[in-house]
Amino acid sequence: MKKLIIANWKLNPATADDAQKLAASINQAAKNTAVLCPPTVFLSRINFPRLGAQDCFWQEKGAFTGQTSPLQLKSLGVKYCIAGHSERRAVGDTDEMVNAKLNALLEHKITPILCVGFGTTVEQDDLEVTDVLKQQLGAGLAGIDPLKVIAAYEPVWAIGTGKNASPEHAEKIALFIKSKYGIKKILYGGSVNAANAKGFLQQPNISGLLVGGESLIPGHFNQIINF
Ligand code: PGA
Repeated sequence: MKKLIIANWKLNPATADDAQKLAASINQAAKNTAVLCPPTVFLSRINFPRLGAQDCFWQEKGAFTGQTSPLQLKSLGVKYCIAGHSERRAVGDTDEMVNAKLNALLEHKITPILCVGFGTTVEQDDLEVTDVLKQQLGAGLAGIDPLKVIAAYEPVWAIGTGKNASPEHAEKIALFIKSKYGIKKILYGGSVNAANAKGFLQQPNISGLLVGGESLIPGHFNQIINF
């Protein structure tokens, strides 16, 4: 079965030209399904079959300086949008805000990728981790059809640190999210690279990956999307 691999470019690269070059170097007909999430400001400049956004606002229009609505994203051909990423939660996004974003995205038929894992620590056992995730999943999914949402388990300590969770731990958490919340597709994210990606993709309940740093290195990312 094809896996879903999301490239989260975060605040990279520096220019539109560089973004176009990066996108052009990604294999469009890879074995797995790749989605590129460039910075919002470059979305209209990128030519790739599947585009995602890194975040959105929950209102459609109005006096909301600096925000981007799902309606605007839709007009650029965006099919997916990350919500609740740890780097957004770290600057103040709450579960209620994440829930409002999910609602707004679904209204415009953009598939939300709900990230959970902020607030977890490397010392926690599986049970302690699920305790943290329950709050983010329960509040984030309030009133939402879970079948329309993709979840991404991203333990915050693994993001951008070079210290990934074990595939076995990620599989257990994916199974928990699936069985307790009814979400069918669960991704793993956090220091995924060309060397460790396969271990996650072999897990039966992990439907794909959310890749940050390595998605900026075409040689590595092309390997990941072709496993
Ligand atoms: P990383 O980031 O792959 O650089 O750890 C993943 C993410 O933040 O989505």
